Amino acid sequence: GDTIRLGIAGLGTVGTGLIKIVRREAALLKARTGKDITISAVSARNRDKDRGVSLSGYDWEDDPVVLATRDDVDVFVELMGGSDGPAKAATEAALNAGKDVVTANKAMLAVHGQALAELAEAKGSVIRYEAAVAGGIPVIKSLIEGLAGNEITRVMGVMNGTCNYILTRMESAGLPYETVFEEANQLGYLEADPELDVGGIDAGHKLSLLAAAAFGTRVAFDAMELEGIGRLTIDDIRAAGDMGYRIKLLGVARMTGRGLEQRMSPCLVPATSPLGQLEGGTNMVVLEGNAVDQIVLRGPGAGEGPTASAVIADVCDIARGIRVPVFGQPAASLSEPVPALSQTP
Ligand code: NAP
Ligand code: HSE
Repeated sequence: GDTIRLGIAGLGTVGTGLIKIVRREAALLKARTGKDITISAVSARNRDKDRGVSLSGYDWEDDPVVLATRDDVDVFVELMGGSDGPAKAATEAALNAGKDVVTANKAMLAVHGQALAELAEAKGSVIRYEAAVAGGIPVIKSLIEGLAGNEITRVMGVMNGTCNYILTRMESAGLPYETVFEEANQLGYLEADPELDVGGIDAGHKLSLLAAAAFGTRVAFDAMELEGIGRLTIDDIRAAGDMGYRIKLLGVARMTGRGLEQRMSPCLVPATSPLGQLEGGTNMVVLEGNAVDQIVLRGPGAGEGPTASAVIADVCDIARGIRVPVFGQPAASLSEPVPALSQTP
């Protein structure tokens, strides 16, 4: 039809940001996709919470699974979070009902992405996840669409803004890790479970999705070599600076003769390089292909507007009839996970 009807589960930072864009940019979205993008129904835990955005005109569903399977929902937008629980249940229900799905949920896709991709394929649906990797940076589209004619040789990135904030603040203010961690906590930067951020897990989830899209492999988060920033001291940062380097929580994935290497760990990067100049909560992704050489994408990896910007872009792709599968090629043809370097004999 001429209308794409959304069902949105999760009305927190990203969900309310999405509603604002759908309302504010209705004419623009219609001009760019040829479709009216509307919202049929929404869901969250607390119906009475004031979310700073009007929900009038949208039906309320307490149960996200019911929302996901409504007849008047074409695209189910999952913005609740969590690797299992209602996010996974509602995503599966939507796909089983033949709906398309857009999600920002890297934790869910890092663990269940392969199974969900196969389910989507079996049902003729698509599941899109631009917002799950580096927030507002259109990195998946750049890989799948913009670099479609390249064999990807390496992808790299700083994909957790909280860790980059902590590292740059330790450096600029000369403060110890514990003090800056507490500051970040007060500012509300940390995930509910801070270990997801500082343990490198959130960034690792993102790298595993990026690598699967780049190299046509199954998502292999389990095979990643992972180290967070919790053991770094101000002396480490100063010593790096004395040598002309900065320390970044950097993810690197490349295909080698021995298989896929994926590593997320604190790395020394030259202070004058693009990665070395990355400040605060910003993200940066470097994509390398055999034809294009190297491109560098930089931008906000989190926050209401940037993350919703990526979500609505996926909705627009669906509205335009772009049905690229979740990891860029049919799930059935993805190669088997390959061991991380550390696990390779
Ligand atoms: P959030 O602010 O915590 O909002 C989560 C929303 O989900 C809330 O509206 C909550 O309802 C609802 N919810 C939670 N559990 C639910 C349940 N069992 N049933 C129904 N609704 C439930 O989270 P967010 O920051 O918007 O993040 C949403 C997703 O985007 C996550 O997967 C996150 O990883 C991803 N993401 C976020 C960012 C960012 O900058 N925030 C960036 C990239 C990706 P109540 O409001 O009623 O409690
Ligand atoms: N905790 C994440 C970060 C949020 O700091 O980058 C965005 O995924």
